[in-house]
Amino acid sequence: MPNDAVNEKSIPVFGGGQTAFYAKSNKVPLPLIERASGIYMWDIEGNCYIDVSSGPVVSNIGHGNTSVADRMAEQAKTMEYAFARLARNHPNIEYSERLARLAGPGFERVHLTSGGSEAMENAIKFLRQYAIVTGNPSKTKIITCQPSYHGATIATLAMNGEILMKPFLDGFVESSVKVPAPFSYRIPLGNDAGGYAKYCADTLEATITELGKENILAFVIEPIGGLSTGCVVPPETYIHRVREICTHYGVHLVFDEILCGMGRTGKFLAAHHWPQALPDIVTMAKGLASGYSPLGAVLAPASMVDKLADLSGFEFQYSYNANPVSSAAGLAVLDEYQRLDLIAKAGEMGTELREGLEGLKKRFPIIGDIRGKGMLLAVELVANQETKAMLPHELQPADRVRVHGLNNGLMIYSRPTSGGKYGHWFLVSPPLTITQKELDDLLQRLAATLSDLTTELTESGVL
Ligand SMILES: Cc1ncc(COP(=O)(O)O)c(C=O)c1O
Repeated sequence: MPNDAVNEKSIPVFGGGQTAFYAKSNKVPLPLIERASGIYMWDIEGNCYIDVSSGPVVSNIGHGNTSVADRMAEQAKTMEYAFARLARNHPNIEYSERLARLAGPGFERVHLTSGGSEAMENAIKFLRQYAIVTGNPSKTKIITCQPSYHGATIATLAMNGEILMKPFLDGFVESSVKVPAPFSYRIPLGNDAGGYAKYCADTLEATITELGKENILAFVIEPIGGLSTGCVVPPETYIHRVREICTHYGVHLVFDEILCGMGRTGKFLAAHHWPQALPDIVTMAKGLASGYSPLGAVLAPASMVDKLADLSGFEFQYSYNANPVSSAAGLAVLDEYQRLDLIAKAGEMGTELREGLEGLKKRFPIIGDIRGKGMLLAVELVANQETKAMLPHELQPADRVRVHGLNNGLMIYSRPTSGGKYGHWFLVSPPLTITQKELDDLLQRLAATLSDLTTELTESGVL
């Protein structure tokens, strides 16, 4: 092989390097962001955008927080890495203890990871290993919701309720068993949200009975939806019923709080909204280090973890698990949460934000539904508010709102699950640090965005 094959200068770089890997070639180019502060981001041409969705609900404390950056730098200078299988370190211990305290009884043990998918994988590996060492080796099946999102590793892709992934997964890896998600807006005719949620829980029970409880490892749900359902909040009765079913049949209940945890919904865990129906395991990520460093966590009861430790020890380790610099970032983020009282603020500002969005719904008939909890809200776009008729998927409504958003100074995360089968919506989940004045700015830019989208849809004859 000629020497220049490894010479960086000989490698052609296409336009934006890594961006080309993600973007379809015919899409509007993504802005090239060079600095960010609070809820705002600026591209290289000086255009300013509000981070409407905190990326994918990551940047909970906002951008450019120097106390977090300084703490990370300090940690990197003092001790940047110690392999968790061979040594312990203070940032990890302190951070795990603080997370466990915030999560409360039932979540005394914390396993730190480098993100959400990895947390989800480790939660499942932990449960599988626990089943084997406690004499339940037939427990192999996982039940998840249709639709749902739990990550992008191969195993978590197989857990996701995303029908578009079928060709990718078929014959490649066994997918989880699916039960319907407890939708609140797009529910079959003749149902109300409560009745439909009961049907969903009954389907879970019937599925467990049909497959045999001895074969079911876990039921995994997003207790409050994010990217898959557009922030669906199930009725309280659903969560209680699901808890009862899982306890009755000896199936582990796992809450994927990777997106909805860390104070987003006005409580540290979404699970804390239903204290009588806590899950067995919780996974977290995203807001933990708020984008400053990759960080995720699996929270589990001491009774299970200590038993596994006695019998075999948890077998699985990544080199970057429990990275001290990430834990330092996590600690500094928690300090910011405390200093700014961000969990209470998520509840209060969430109410303001929802009211503002309800005002927009009155002005723009293309808004069909506003849902979510605290500062985790989604707006569903429709062709008709009365009939809930969807916008034609060929027009890519979710992508068009993103593009009009960019033109009006908004960075919006939108995603039609399963090719639009469940509707088109976007997330309104700005950093929890947002002020009233900034919120007004966001709503004003959003009104301009929706006005442009309405004009486009009218001109194309859809409205
Ligand atoms: C509910 C949920 N679970 C898991 C994940 C995967 O997390 P990550 O992207 O950090 O791997 C996500 C990411 O969007 C998520 O929203």
